[in-house]
Amino acid sequence: MPARYGHFDDDRREYVITRPDTPLPWINYLGTEAFFGIISNTAGGYSYYRDARLRRITRYRYNNVPADTGGRYIYLRDNASGAYWSPSWQPTQRKLDSYECRHGLSYTQISSAYLGIRAQTLYFVPIGETLEVWRLRIRNERDQPARLSVFSSVEFCLWNAQDDATNFQRNYSTGEVEVEVDGGVIYHTTEYRERRNHVAYFGCSEPLAGFDTEREEFLGAYRGWDRPAAVERGESGGSIAHGWAPVGSHHVRLTLAPGETREVIFVLGYQENPPEAKFDPPGSGVLAKEGVRQALSRWLRPATVADGFEQLRDSWTALLATLRVDTPDPDTNRMVNIWNPYQCLVTFLMSRSVSLFESGVDRGMGFRDSNQDLLGFAALAPARARARLLDLASTQLPTGGAYHQFQPLTKRGNNDIGSGFNDDPLWLVLAAAAYLKETGDAAILDEPVPYDNEPGSATPLYEHLERAVQYTLDRLGPHSLPLIGRADWNDCLNLNCFSDTPGESFQTTVNRADGSAESVFIAGLFILAARELVGLAQLRGLPGDGYRAAADKMAAAVVEHGWDGAWFRRAYDYFGNVVGSSENEEGQIFVEPQGICVLAGVGVENGIATRALDSVRERLATEHGIVLVHPAYRRYHVELGEISSYPPGYKENAGVFCHTNPWVMIAEAMIGRGDAAFDYYRRINPSAREDLSDLHRCEPYVYAQMIAGKEAATPGEAKNSWLTGTAAWNLVAISQWILGIRAELGGLRIDPVLPADWPGFTATRRFRGATYEISVRKPAGLTGRAGLVFVDGEPIEGTLVPAAAPGSTVIVEAIVS
Ligand code: GLC
Ligand code: GLC
Repeated sequence: MPARYGHFDDDRREYVITRPDTPLPWINYLGTEAFFGIISNTAGGYSYYRDARLRRITRYRYNNVPADTGGRYIYLRDNASGAYWSPSWQPTQRKLDSYECRHGLSYTQISSAYLGIRAQTLYFVPIGETLEVWRLRIRNERDQPARLSVFSSVEFCLWNAQDDATNFQRNYSTGEVEVEVDGGVIYHTTEYRERRNHVAYFGCSEPLAGFDTEREEFLGAYRGWDRPAAVERGESGGSIAHGWAPVGSHHVRLTLAPGETREVIFVLGYQENPPEAKFDPPGSGVLAKEGVRQALSRWLRPATVADGFEQLRDSWTALLATLRVDTPDPDTNRMVNIWNPYQCLVTFLMSRSVSLFESGVDRGMGFRDSNQDLLGFAALAPARARARLLDLASTQLPTGGAYHQFQPLTKRGNNDIGSGFNDDPLWLVLAAAAYLKETGDAAILDEPVPYDNEPGSATPLYEHLERAVQYTLDRLGPHSLPLIGRADWNDCLNLNCFSDTPGESFQTTVNRADGSAESVFIAGLFILAARELVGLAQLRGLPGDGYRAAADKMAAAVVEHGWDGAWFRRAYDYFGNVVGSSENEEGQIFVEPQGICVLAGVGVENGIATRALDSVRERLATEHGIVLVHPAYRRYHVELGEISSYPPGYKENAGVFCHTNPWVMIAEAMIGRGDAAFDYYRRINPSAREDLSDLHRCEPYVYAQMIAGKEAATPGEAKNSWLTGTAAWNLVAISQWILGIRAELGGLRIDPVLPADWPGFTATRRFRGATYEISVRKPAGLTGRAGLVFVDGEPIEGTLVPAAAPGSTVIVEAIVS
């Protein structure tokens, strides 16, 4: 088995997969605005419009065998011999003569050669459009003419992905399509006759030799996507779906001279018509097609496609110009310059809803998740961050509390999950502070924002933040620490849910609601949030003393009741027993309070912080990252909730839950230990783990939620890639705390805490419209902090570089001593 399945192409900002049988499907995302999809390295995946549950365009079966079947498939057939194959390897799995998949930023290109025919398919969603383009280039490398057939294929989802997978008595009869053979357009029109005003369509640039829209006709009875009958016989069936399973498949015949290349473009799109103009003529029941025709008249043309692709690449070049670094470590460079911000954008867009592990049907956008995603995203696209921040705040409850999730389509709080995760509201303060530090846009604090989307309830955003902090103060327990509610950041620490019924939700079943279980983690988060609020208060000309005092008081409670002697405790349970203490047999030390309390500044002055971080190193650190808790729970603890339901070493039960690792990196940087901070950074950096691909198994270009911990059966094995708060927090840790380029309310802080053996680094940072050319120099063998900062050649006092006029370029030099 090879150690690698591909390599990075940093110049093109691509990961190049060189064999199709990766340990797991390695995926990418298409779309950045409204039309989205996931795509694997073998063209598997699906598309949707805005909401993966309610507007699913193509069908996908999770948990399928073979894995990742169903996608954007093209079949090629040699009409002389009858041989046929998939140029993306799946689903036919012919052994291709060459294969390469390039996952780039919001596009994927899969190339292969077989029987002297080279094929290259580029998949992307053009900016501003609600469609995806598949551009197929076929080249005849034989010395004879080649007579070929090309078949496209998608399987339509009957819109609501949840219903589509369950409500068969209805769905076997509702499917409808319309086909315009001349224009090469297949329309998926299910439910358009009644209340839907949207259709999906699938167009083709070439004259059709045939088409199919009925799955069974295309595949043949008892056959799968690996050997469609229509492809095998080289002839479409011309089927029209009536119920059952509508598909879209075009058949194009081409004859290519030796050396000739042809381009065939397929467009899969979503079209919404105004309700009063959905039929043409009105009332006729005939689908109005003008909108689709206009889109296709542009996007089936090679020149439009080439321009659209350039535009997409340019937009990424512009986004990534926010921060470019050149450090001695190539894994750091490519993550900071390319993949980490890319993952931040994707998590900002998808929250935790759509990946190979998140089916897109059962989660909305998490409140705490989306707020934390903003920490990584705010610098990339401040205007979009602003809008998201206001959307989030609009779901906040008048109590200051928050719905745990909200729905992206309606932007409303989700009543099924409800509220009562007592950490949730505090993340809003952190997100708002991050946005303000990045932009200086103090006016947002005056923006009127409703509670629970209730008209008439609006107050300035600033009051939302005050209520968020007050929410904690109104809910303190016997040790003056915050009550945990259903859970805190750790969704699986459910101290008020004593569940003994299989399948019951640990998060929504709360049967000890009178409980006074407390969280040291929320205490730390509160201190952090309250201290941020002091800064925001001052922006409004207020002293913020109350929040400073509240933070100090909470810090005192943490030291008094949350300190275990060598590390921070985790919680007090329903009975008042300590969790995460040397007194416990299992679960003695948790990572979360060590990270967050130090981030909040607790014990940084008096050595407690250092002691806590030493304990992390002694007990939690492994070669694959820092595990969440140690020792893992080996038996089920009804009083702790979901955490001990996981086998030891996985997920919250002592997996390397990557999201928490950057907190420790930041904490190490705060106390000046650059080697430790960077060492932790490298342990989970996916690029640095590329050689371990056989063990790690997930994509080497993005973070995964979890790497199995030291007590697991498979330590080092990653799971649940892509959608994780790890993306935002790692970008914060490396760029703001290790490299030390940090937006603050008063300007740009230059405070690197580097590994000893680095001579320094250079970086370009766009900040509030100006460009900062930064170089950091440092004697080898030293960590230390920046002693001297020069701005345009002049030394400044301290390390805070004031914001420069938009459009200007500032030269910043920092000397570490
Ligand atoms: C998942 C959840 C997140 C939670 C974490 C730890 O990533 O999306 O909200 O904080 O798990 O339980
Ligand atoms: C988070 C956790 C997961 C837990 C879930 C419950 O996603 O990572 O382990 O089951 O929350 O909602």
